[in-house]
Amino acid sequence: MATMIEAERIKWEQRHQGQPPGDPEAFLIEALELMPRGLALDVAAGRGRNSIAMARAGMRVVAADFSSSAITALAEIARVEHLPIWPVIADFDNFALRDSRFDAIVNINFLDRALFPHFKRALRLGGILVVETFLVDQASSWHISNQRFLLDHYELRELVAGLELIRYREGLFPFLDGTSAWRAGAVARKV
Ligand SMILES: C[S@@+](CC[C@H](N)C(=O)[O-])C[C@H]1O[C@@H](n2cnc3c(N)ncnc32)[C@H](O)[C@@H]1O
Repeated sequence: MATMIEAERIKWEQRHQGQPPGDPEAFLIEALELMPRGLALDVAAGRGRNSIAMARAGMRVVAADFSSSAITALAEIARVEHLPIWPVIADFDNFALRDSRFDAIVNINFLDRALFPHFKRALRLGGILVVETFLVDQASSWHISNQRFLLDHYELRELVAGLELIRYREGLFPFLDGTSAWRAGAVARKV
């Protein structure tokens, strides 16, 4: 198991190396108006495209990912742009979240179903969870190495159960570059 995780981490180190952060996810940008301007956690933040968008929108962001190349590059951008981002090298397979700590938790293009109970506890009352990732339908259009990273239909609605669902969508959605993908997204509030 440890070897599998290490192989996955090395794969991501190579993918992130020398790459710019990229554009933030459109679903997150649309959710920003619903998110409190407090402390946010960007789960598996990668090179931080979504962390940067949140920080520019007035939030303080803990950006956590197990790729040191991604986190080091993000730390440099945050330093140069004076953005309130705290980049953390962390493995979510072994990462403790304090209860009632965050005003927002963002989980985009990363899926670990076991984390959802922790997200719910780590949100403050009124805090917002934003989740968006690929649906199982995407497996037929792409070569996806491991289907456990894909959501079943309406599975995300179950994963956020117990929170107040504010937005939910599933389907084939276009990206700005003209491509499209099968995705599910949820914005939910702790009440
Ligand atoms: C598809 S990228 C998404 C990055 C970012 N959320 C975004 O939307 O740009 C998936 C990220 O998950 C990270 N990752 C995968 N498994 C992880 C784990 N167990 N702990 C922390 N990060 C992990 C990878 O390093 C990679 O940056």
